[in-house]
Amino acid sequence: MLLRSLAAEDFRNLEAFRLEPAPRFNLFEGRNGQGKTNLLEAIYLLGAFRSPRDAKHPELVRFGAERATIIGEIERREVTRTIEIRISREGKKVILDGKPITRLPASFLHLNAVIFGPDDLELTKLGPDVRRRFLDRATYAVWPDHLASLRAYGEALKSRNRLLRDAKLRHAAPDDDVLAAFEAELARHGARLLQRRHLFLAGFVPRFCEAFARITDGELTGAIAHAPSGLSAPAVAGADPATIERELAATFARQRASDLRLGWTRSGPHADELDLFIDGRPARLFASQGQHRAFVLAMKIAELDRIQEAIGVYPIFLLDDVSSELDERRNALLMETLDRGGGQVFITTTDRRWIKVSDARVWRVEAGRITG
Ligand SMILES: Nc1ncnc2c1ncn2[C@@H]1O[C@H](COP(=O)(O)OP(=O)(O)OP(=O)(O)O)[C@@H](O)[C@H]1O
Ligand SMILES: [Mg+2]
Repeated sequence: MLLRSLAAEDFRNLEAFRLEPAPRFNLFEGRNGQGKTNLLEAIYLLGAFRSPRDAKHPELVRFGAERATIIGEIERREVTRTIEIRISREGKKVILDGKPITRLPASFLHLNAVIFGPDDLELTKLGPDVRRRFLDRATYAVWPDHLASLRAYGEALKSRNRLLRDAKLRHAAPDDDVLAAFEAELARHGARLLQRRHLFLAGFVPRFCEAFARITDGELTGAIAHAPSGLSAPAVAGADPATIERELAATFARQRASDLRLGWTRSGPHADELDLFIDGRPARLFASQGQHRAFVLAMKIAELDRIQEAIGVYPIFLLDDVSSELDERRNALLMETLDRGGGQVFITTTDRRWIKVSDARVWRVEAGRITG
């Protein structure tokens, strides 16, 4: 898919602009604090309707302004649509081809974007919830109905937890029939979640290993393993959904007593983990800064390729300050990898000499002004 044009007004520190990006590489160069990350955030918002750094609406509007507007023309399989987002203190409005939409269908994913930024180093450094979110967002990009399963599972989980917590506070046994009903829901939606996550990872992990080996010049071996909670990994890998559902239901039933003591549900797909390794050791504990960066970059490249394989078009790739903390050799290998890949790419940098890709259109970003 292609972002044919992008315009914005009163978005963050950016002066009103309109630009027509090149179909391949677009490079935004500027010193610190000039608006490069803000620009990528605007593009990301067009696809995800939320900020990659989870910024709140008022933060996105230029200081002193009433509302921010972002407009993008997005071409996907020869269909071009205009998406406009208006952000004010009250919230945001999405206007698609001139018509305001009140409720976006979960399947509405006209613009897919994969973003890599400094915050994404959290993927290898922080706890499992960050990785779960990564996995679910990427899975959702391939199967939009994944979102519905996630929501339904989340609702059932909330209900079971409420029941457990109330029972714990009252020192009374919860109603077994009600508990069983919530567990059946959890098992049903949980099995669907697990199956989709598993399918996503089956195509993702080999691509990740390849990308990581390429960026690190074959010096390091990366590995990612799905550690499902409440089930064994082989149970997920080989099983049909009905079996997974049965096993999940059995797990919830078995853990009633201990969950009751806790007041919440300890195990289940909501507690899945992705274990990350470099040369067999947990990345979180032993990776250097540059290795963290290479690891996360390889995950993002693999995500891009995996989504492309599944939906037949490349998502837009947004790379924020990608070269810092990579040594010259690794950076050169990354550039080679990007050059060999496909799709439309937006790269920000403080120094364009780092970015050695063919045919990049270059913009300067200075005090919020973008010039071509
Ligand atoms: N709502 C807003 N209104 C006006 N300015 C804002 C707003 N939000 C952020 N800024 C300003 O935008 C600037 C930061 O922009 P941005 O994060 O895009 O910089 P950058 O070019 O990516 O810098 P770096 O190279 O350091 O990452 C800061 O000066 C910040 O104060
Ligand atoms: Mg930045």
